[in-house]
Amino acid sequence: MMTWKKSLGLGTAAMLLAASITGCGVVSNGDQAASGGKTEGGTQAAKKDDGKIVIGMSMDTLKEERWQKDRDIFSAKVKELGAEVKVLAADGNDATQLSQAEQLISQGVDVLVVIPHNAEASAPIVDKAHKEGIKVISYDRLIKNSNVDYYLSFDNVRVGEMQAQAIVEKAPKGNYVYIGGADTDNNAHMFKQGAMNILKPLAEKGDIKIVYEQFSKDWKPEEALKNMENALTANNNNVQAVVAANDGTAGGAIQALTAQGMTGKIPVSGQDADLAAVQRIAEGTQTMTVYKPINAIATKAAEMAVALAKGETVNADKKVNNGKIDVPSILLDPIAVNKSNLADTVIKDGFHKVEDVFKNVPKDQWPKK
Ligand code: BGC
Repeated sequence: MMTWKKSLGLGTAAMLLAASITGCGVVSNGDQAASGGKTEGGTQAAKKDDGKIVIGMSMDTLKEERWQKDRDIFSAKVKELGAEVKVLAADGNDATQLSQAEQLISQGVDVLVVIPHNAEASAPIVDKAHKEGIKVISYDRLIKNSNVDYYLSFDNVRVGEMQAQAIVEKAPKGNYVYIGGADTDNNAHMFKQGAMNILKPLAEKGDIKIVYEQFSKDWKPEEALKNMENALTANNNNVQAVVAANDGTAGGAIQALTAQGMTGKIPVSGQDADLAAVQRIAEGTQTMTVYKPINAIATKAAEMAVALAKGETVNADKKVNNGKIDVPSILLDPIAVNKSNLADTVIKDGFHKVEDVFKNVPKDQWPKK
């Protein structure tokens, strides 16, 4: 591939260089990436570029705060490694994601990194990429029932266990509500599985009762709000604990608790260490979040993608079955964060600044340096 790329005439190379530069513009602009179906300059011609490696990233969404970090860190690292990067985000739409992936494939990306909106519906992306000899890395979320080449994520069952464990420590007895993520996202099922690993034995012992459990469509906070309202209504507000699958859904659940004057009175979990969530933790309205160092996953993905594009082998020490094959996998460690270790985790890592996290908290309660 590199050989015929190199055999192109100078004029074409100049034209194509221009195309790749425009393609980069898409990467650094979140709005464009979120809504635009096009990588500008992304014609078939882009395929015959100057011989430079091109990595494609097909994202579900940029809605949650974390995904913008994923995109930015990934893109910067790919460029640092001397390759081009093209990113498209599908705004939570399966058909859009499929056609954006096709676009990236037809533009001649060397490796495709996919964060699927829908674990099952994204499988054809893998087939289409493989037809063109392009390897696919499933990023953070698993593409199910496909021959996807690699899966790079966190230990997501562990994430769910950490969430439930932290809540059980605060509420060893009582009525539990589980506010899940998107049913279409394999991660949402693993988070729930992890949470239930902790909660089920306690329910069987009779210590706790799971009075409500629901997924929240597309991880939307407004869906979580509705779920939490339903849970409270169905139980006459007799709820002692909430395990919410991420910070967005925690935000929705906390809004419903606020309307009933229950905020801060019962524990609520989350995930992602979103700024709003770590502020709630500092203020005492959310109990915990799970911090997944985005720097680690995005950097690793960029390194893997560029290595694969060069034909190098990538070591993946785990296997995760996706319903069709055991996918070579790398699973990074999540970190449970509560008020007592905010300073030693997200702040120390530079994920957030102390003045942002503790913005609404009197200065005498800020962590001592
Ligand atoms: C990710 C979470 C994220 C959620 C919603 C999950 O697949 O692992 O970090 O909060 O999607 O985007």
